[in-house]
Amino acid sequence: MSRVAYVDGQYLPHRLAAVHIEDRGHQFGDGVYEVLTVFGEQLVDEQPHLVRLARSLVELRMRAPMSESALKIVMREVIRRNRVRNGILYLQISRGVAPREHAFPKSAKPVLVVTSQPRRPADPQIAEAGIAVITIPDIRWRRCDIKSIALLPNVLGKQLAREAGAFEAWQVDPEGCVTEGTSTNAWIVTADRSVVTRQADSAILNGITRLAVLEIMAREGYRFVERPFTVAEAKTASEAFLTSTTVDLLPVVSIDGAPVGDGTPGPLTRRLCERYLTHVAEAA
Ligand code: PDD
Repeated sequence: MSRVAYVDGQYLPHRLAAVHIEDRGHQFGDGVYEVLTVFGEQLVDEQPHLVRLARSLVELRMRAPMSESALKIVMREVIRRNRVRNGILYLQISRGVAPREHAFPKSAKPVLVVTSQPRRPADPQIAEAGIAVITIPDIRWRRCDIKSIALLPNVLGKQLAREAGAFEAWQVDPEGCVTEGTSTNAWIVTADRSVVTRQADSAILNGITRLAVLEIMAREGYRFVERPFTVAEAKTASEAFLTSTTVDLLPVVSIDGAPVGDGTPGPLTRRLCERYLTHVAEAA
């Protein structure tokens, strides 16, 4: 079956879908994006994603390409045309096409791209075995709360992880605290079974998966706190995990080559993972 992409007003065969060479997303990374889970042909946590998208646009002083209700129609149409049951939907908005000049163009209109592809479920073997992370300095800008398409430090960090045989790189701020992964949020479980993740400040993206996990924990009486944690604390934690739309919730079993806890996915992490997967099925 051939794939279809939505590009600036048109549904096109994926292999022909393209943006202009002077699209500001292409030239400056001047754009925002979202990645949503599709489960049973439905979008999971659609509203929180749209709220975050609207916030990213406001923070970058960009116009929305269309109303929220029109965007919802386009997203559903892309899922339908690609016959995606379980997968992801990617959407990107750039500031538009204009002759290259750093300051905002006077008349460019935002360019929307939407694609969808089957993906889920994530490799169950990875979730079963857990994954390794390395730590690297966080060299990103100070507005990581904006879901900008400018992801060069994240790309470089993920590549370092791959080269080290790890799944993810946890980025570390000048105080020695973990901010987040290159495409995931970072979590630890302390010896007294309290779950810790950094507060949603401008050093991290406030993940929609993160928010869903926090909500599950609040509802079900888990002990948790949103605060910074150091690499040293993470290395002596009893459990660790990471979250994102594309990987759900994955146990972290080693940090910089040292085992977390006994080096296998912890019981609290496993339970939360199950609960999150139930949330995905229910939210769809
Ligand atoms: N990344 N932190 C960063 C830097 C991210 O890029 C992401 C998501 C997350 C988790 O956010 P969420 O739970 O809303 O997916 C945290 C997406 C999936 C990506 O770039 O592919």
